[in-house]
Amino acid sequence: MSSPGPAQLPQHVAIIMDGNGRWAQQRGLPRLEGHRRGVEAVRTTMNAAREIGIRYITLYAFSVENWKRPQGEVGGLMGLLEFYLKKELATFVRDGVRFRTIGRTDQMPAGVRRLLRETAAATAHFTDWHFILALNYGSRTEVADAARAYAAAVVAGTEKLADNSWATFSRYLYTDGIPEPDLLVRTSGEQRVSNFLLLQCAYAEMVFTPTLWPDFGKADLQAAVDEYGRRERRYGLTAEQIKAGAK
Ligand code: FPP
Repeated sequence: MSSPGPAQLPQHVAIIMDGNGRWAQQRGLPRLEGHRRGVEAVRTTMNAAREIGIRYITLYAFSVENWKRPQGEVGGLMGLLEFYLKKELATFVRDGVRFRTIGRTDQMPAGVRRLLRETAAATAHFTDWHFILALNYGSRTEVADAARAYAAAVVAGTEKLADNSWATFSRYLYTDGIPEPDLLVRTSGEQRVSNFLLLQCAYAEMVFTPTLWPDFGKADLQAAVDEYGRRERRYGLTAEQIKAGAK
């Protein structure tokens, strides 16, 4: 089947990068080597996304639960993140990619926080391509943070409780200003969403691929996009209504 035309391209693809550990284990390598190769796959995927024409990519790089992993692995992941951000800033600027994060990044190590701030600030003016890294992210934490911020706004009188709606409340999520994902991809054969963008993916199409994240490349991304192009998104309407052009 050929690739879908531009009308069927997802604007925003969110990816749960899974399988780094298994990739390493299969080769008798330490888990961190899987993560290192995972960083290469991040680079490949970013380039592929732009070649395909996907404007927004969000990657689940570190969850609120990932702190419970062995200390050496957590430290290794933070080191990789620093290494990646230092190296990638020039590429983002060259390619016109806006970099942002979602999650409680204030709890990340100071060195990482500084690089996140610098990278976001240096790319804030770009509008065509968007790269969003979910760090210390969890949907339930995000909702709790949003509810607190919304309640504070009500107490301060800048929001009226009676006016609350999804349009209002969603402005308090980390993803304010970012369109909802059209397509959610998870690698490594696992078929669950693991506390990732639960509200934002309310209408996302989901594609699960057996490919382990370090092996993920342009062909895998294109295959997920092709699968997306074959789906019919109905948003609660009937197929007949969609055919008749209802939205
Ligand atoms: C899941 O594989 C992957 C992670 C928890 C971390 C993802 C991180 C990277 C790809 C590297 C850092 C990212 C950037 C952007 C610098 P897993 O370890 O759960 O694999 P397993 O299920 O096979 O054990």
